[in-house]
Amino acid sequence: MHSKDQISHDDYKNTADWLLAQTKQRPKVAIICGSGLGMLADALKCQETFHYSDIPGFPQSTVQGHAGRLVFGELKGKPCVCMQGRFHMYEGHTLCKTTFPVRVFKLLGVETLIVTNAAGSLADGYQPGDIMIIKDHINFPGLAGLNPLNGPNDDKFGPRFPAMSGAYDKDLCRLATEIVKQMGVSQFVREGVYAMVGGPNFETVAEARLMHRLGVDAVGMSTAPEVIVATHCGLRVFGLSLITNKVVKSYDDTESVNHEGVLEVSKLRSHTLQSLVTELVGRMDVNNNTHTV
Ligand code: HPA
Repeated sequence: MHSKDQISHDDYKNTADWLLAQTKQRPKVAIICGSGLGMLADALKCQETFHYSDIPGFPQSTVQGHAGRLVFGELKGKPCVCMQGRFHMYEGHTLCKTTFPVRVFKLLGVETLIVTNAAGSLADGYQPGDIMIIKDHINFPGLAGLNPLNGPNDDKFGPRFPAMSGAYDKDLCRLATEIVKQMGVSQFVREGVYAMVGGPNFETVAEARLMHRLGVDAVGMSTAPEVIVATHCGLRVFGLSLITNKVVKSYDDTESVNHEGVLEVSKLRSHTLQSLVTELVGRMDVNNNTHTV
């Protein structure tokens, strides 16, 4: 028996089977688009689109800037599926619901998950418009006991106590850095640590200072749950943060962050992010989890 919030293996399977019956496409790469980054899906060829509301068992996205569509298609000949709009804890979803699509992707045959998000920077020297390759994360809700893997473990997906020390694939980080150099955009691409907070409020100055001291480079309200569930079920993970604002770390600072500003900056660098993801997918080997440089 499962509690009201518990999702059974059959629930994931029913959604995956429904999608497999609707499309002949068999994605190897899944891409989750962050706030204002939904246009990543526009680069897909041979698009087939499903609204979340039409997919059995799928949660609904409620945030402005998140379209709420699943798009199948090809990037540089590689079969992909793209989430235009993700689910956040602050919308009131349980973490099981937030991460529901990741396990569905696993059952579709996906092997690599690419996550993108909008984030505020804490690291000195980062500027709005910078792109950060995520090398690791700090899951603040997780440290306080809010984890998408809470509850009975589904052994069909992965072990009870999964390692997270290698969650972000080093080879894909290296390949992305190589591509960034070749694109000539190294000056605004960084590699750093992402921290997830629950939101929906932005950080207080004291919270910002705390995270800065802890070695957080960028902070946002998503991503860690999806990455944990993906790593648990053996998906290879690559992540990018688009820095949309500097987090206020001084009581003298009169600027404050807002969601509209976040979306504005997302648009500014969206093209570079799209090219980077496209090139990365084009050059990764999707069949045996290695890549060609
Ligand atoms: N804090 C948290 N989440 C965010 C921010 C921020 O400054 N910017 C974009 N998402």
